[in-house]
Order: sequence, then C-alpha cells, then structure tokens
Amino acid sequence: MAADSGVSSVFATPHCNTRDPRKNLRTPELIDAYHALQRLLDEAGIPVTVLSGAEVLARGRFREHLAAGDFMTLNGSRYLLTEFYFDEEPDYMEDCLAAVEAEGLVPVVAHPERYYCVQAAPQLAQQWADRGRVLQLNKGSLLGELGEASYLTASLLLRRGAVSVIASDAHHFRYRNPHMGALLDCLAARFPEADPELLLRINPLRIARDQAL
Ligand SMILES: [Fe+2]
Repeated sequence: MAADSGVSSVFATPHCNTRDPRKNLRTPELIDAYHALQRLLDEAGIPVTVLSGAEVLARGRFREHLAAGDFMTLNGSRYLLTEFYFDEEPDYMEDCLAAVEAEGLVPVVAHPERYYCVQAAPQLAQQWADRGRVLQLNKGSLLGELGEASYLTASLLLRRGAVSVIASDAHHFRYRNPHMGALLDCLAARFPEADPELLLRINPLRIARDQAL
C-alpha cells in the first residue's frame, strides 16, 4: 500500500518501552526483524526500503533506558521518535524532552495533536517547535479519522508552519494503513500552504541521513 502511493522508504517504528512484554529496545533480535522484513519485501518485489526506528513511550523506565542508549533512534540518527500518553502533564513532557536533548538527541514528538494538553493549548506544541523539537502529525488526524480535536489541532499547527513531518502511524492494512494517497489529496484541497514534498519526502530523508531539518 505504501509503495502503491509513491512511498519509497518507511521508518518501521514498533511501540517501545510500553507495558507490553515485547519492549522493543535496541536488541539483536529487533535489528534482525527489520532485516527480515526487508528480505520479505525484496522477495516480493516491493520497492520499499525499511528504515529502523521505534515509537518510544516516555513513561516508566524512560530516563534509565535513555541514559543507557537502549532506544532505537530513527535509522540510527540523532532523532528519537518520542510519544506520550494522551493525558500526560505538560511539565512532565517538558522534562522528558529536555532529557532526550541532554543525551545529544533531537526529539521527534509523535502526533502532538492527539495530546489533550496540546488540544487545549496548541501554543505548547508551537513552543516545542520553536525550541527545535520536531513535530510529526498523523495523516489520520488531518483526514478527520482521529476525532475533531485532533483534526482541528493538526490543522492549526500545520497552517502555522510548526510541523516538519507527516507520517502514516500505520498499524494495520485497513485501519490506520500505510497508503498515503488520501493525505496527498487532502493537503492539495485543504492545506495549499503546506508543502507535501518537504513534509513527506525531504524532511524524512534528512532525518534518515542524520541532517538538520
Ligand atoms: Fe503513538
């Protein structure tokens, strides 16, 4: 589905540091899994490159794992895809983002438009962007599939130019899938000020190459 909609590379970002017994920390088994997926794609003739990564939940032993270098950054770069519980407190979020930076990494904030505190006060995410944190919207938010508050907040952040990346947040082939076609149509129709090339190709490529955005 990704390839059919013009995607050439995908960051594979399994949930990490959750309560699930599969923690998806940086282990040889996890690294083998990216390679295994790439082999399957190659064998099937699907022209997509799998880039490593994880969607790291900032809870539990987050600080400890961060200090130990246990997390998979995006393609081994300085960029760490960091997510929070939807009802997390802004002060705790700030502490976690600062902790990521203290390790020399740059946080990519996963779907800020879904956090209740950002929905109530979008300037919070704007401030993150102003301080060099990368904001990543979900395509489902802009398509109105993740509720009205997510849609309105995503729209506002995108129109203000605070957003660097839009991602599929794919979980399934049906629900939250990796096809990006509807998003391209949506951007063209409703967000003419947004640059799809920058949000969907150039900035993700810079992240993969460990370059500044
Ligand atoms: Fe998430």
